[in-house]
Amino acid sequence: MFVDQGGLPDAEKRAREALSRSGVTLLGADQAEWRRGVAAERYEGRLELTWTNKPLRLLADEDGAYEWVPPADYRVAEVRLLDDAGTVGQTRSGRSRARGNLLIRGDALNALTSLAELPEFARELVGKVRLVYLDPPFNTQQSFLHYDDALEHSVWLTMMRDRLLQVKKLLSDEGSVWVHCDDSEQAYLKVMMDEVFGRESFVASVVWENFYGRSNAAAISNSHNYLLVYSPLGKDWRYARNLQPRDERSRSKYRNPDEDPRGLWRNGPIFASEERHEGLMYSVTTPSGRVVQPPKGSHWRMKRAEFDRMVADGRITFGDDGDNAPAVKLFLNEVQDGLVPRSWWPHTEVGHSQEGKREVQALFPGELPFGTPKPERLLARIIEVSSNAGDIVLDCFQGSGTTAAVAHKMGRRWVGVERSADTLDTYAIPRLMKVVEGTDAGGVTETVSWEGGGGFRLLEVAPSMFEQDQGVVVLADWATNSKLSEATAAQLHFTYAPDAPFVGLKGRTRLAVIDGLVSEDVVRVLAAACADEERLIVCGTAVDPLAGKLLRELRRGSTVRKIPASILEEYRQARWSPVAAEAEGPPDVRTSAVVHEPGEAADYGTGEMPDVEAPGATQRAKGVS
Ligand SMILES: C[S@@+](CC[C@H](N)C(=O)[O-])C[C@H]1O[C@@H](n2cnc3c(N)ncnc32)[C@H](O)[C@@H]1O
Repeated sequence: MFVDQGGLPDAEKRAREALSRSGVTLLGADQAEWRRGVAAERYEGRLELTWTNKPLRLLADEDGAYEWVPPADYRVAEVRLLDDAGTVGQTRSGRSRARGNLLIRGDALNALTSLAELPEFARELVGKVRLVYLDPPFNTQQSFLHYDDALEHSVWLTMMRDRLLQVKKLLSDEGSVWVHCDDSEQAYLKVMMDEVFGRESFVASVVWENFYGRSNAAAISNSHNYLLVYSPLGKDWRYARNLQPRDERSRSKYRNPDEDPRGLWRNGPIFASEERHEGLMYSVTTPSGRVVQPPKGSHWRMKRAEFDRMVADGRITFGDDGDNAPAVKLFLNEVQDGLVPRSWWPHTEVGHSQEGKREVQALFPGELPFGTPKPERLLARIIEVSSNAGDIVLDCFQGSGTTAAVAHKMGRRWVGVERSADTLDTYAIPRLMKVVEGTDAGGVTETVSWEGGGGFRLLEVAPSMFEQDQGVVVLADWATNSKLSEATAAQLHFTYAPDAPFVGLKGRTRLAVIDGLVSEDVVRVLAAACADEERLIVCGTAVDPLAGKLLRELRRGSTVRKIPASILEEYRQARWSPVAAEAEGPPDVRTSAVVHEPGEAADYGTGEMPDVEAPGATQRAKGVS
């Protein structure tokens, strides 16, 4: 009945074989029905991870809790400003602040969104971060001294997904993301990361021996954490990553017992698995007269002529007395200049959890120890394998600042984010100050020959530009005059660059922000100040209905917009699908928070747009199951 079965999916092949075995021949409608059944079976369900409230987003509260909110809620859709909060050591000044090392206080999602969306930072960081190392709370359902680690699974997954989606925008083509976790969430995190980055982007899961003791209380004493590694290059990341320097143990395997002038060597394999008969199954007689053939199920790695040439060149050894099976001599100066990283990282190579704690305790002997610092050797290995001097390293769960400290010592640029002001003030900032001053003698300081230097800039995620007043969203008190202009420019993706009477220029479109009424007179003045061919977006806290019409007549494609209503409306209309966010490409300009292109713009400028209602009651997420 079935002629060609080539290329059929397994399920259909199996169904056809079963049908043949049954001896039944289906004709006409029956055959069509059978096909529909097979097809239905083949396409029923799909491989996916789903969880409670997956399409929603989470609002991070100051106290570390999260609230479920719709994606259009201004509190998650807004692009926050990053305010200067000080500098340490040598930093770049003025508008090039995005080019230096940055330590940001605030929630990771707000900070990452700002880095990816504010033009000042996006120019320096989008598609340019070489290494992202994330050490989030593992969701162990414990409470640590400096942070809680007990979220409901769906909350944890959403929290991580939303931050990883932002991370993805910042990652360079050759970059890699390393997420540190343990068995609490590893399996779910892996599937979720497959969804965010694509399964083909998975590189490896590294197992770190973080604890070498034995817990008698446990059914099986846990001694490892995971590092899930993804790269846009997937398995081809092997061409981008670095080799590990050859350590003494690996070097000591090379000796030179026969004083070969080519130097140190060790035995290398001469047989490969499977019998292959293309001139690769010959016999060899050793100097002692013994006949050697490939062991069963294997073949010589080279043809006979090549073998003889290598013998003549002294590249084959038969052991001290000439009676061993032959082996290839691998010379140290001919093998690749380093070791391919393995997925098993024992504590002897990269330290363990206690080592991390001791390092932080040595820096702050009078302080209560930070709960979960990672050892500097672990970060040094990750940074060494995945980045080069001058590359940008990002960690948005800074904790005590290990990533930034090691990145700094190893000559990388770094960006760190931490939510807890207390953790920053007590550990990360003073630790990094010591690194800059060259007074942190611990960790990898000696190994990497660090003596101090450089500096970093402290930034703070600014508060929202909106507030709620009796259920209505209004501009926050601080959002006046130049701050209003800066925050509005951020939402419309303009670089804030005051050039009176304008505050930004994007392509050939000028932005003006008026903290007051946009009248016909205002529009006339602004339109006159534009160069030929330039268009204009005028935002005002109040708008004369005639002003928008006049502006369109004076400057084709220009718009007047009332704030905050027009910005909030854009958040509301923006399509945001967490999983499809990347696959779908950039959101539709007509409905997104991205500024409308002149000429196509929706005009919210007539002033009749109602004030937007505050988001409705939101479900408190912490502890919700
Ligand atoms: C496991 S610790 C990181 C430890 C760090 N790798 C070290 O070596 O010190 C996790 C850190 O993430 C911070 N954190 C948790 N949720 C955050 C969020 N949403 N945004 C920013 N930081 C967050 C916690 O305050 C805590 O300091």
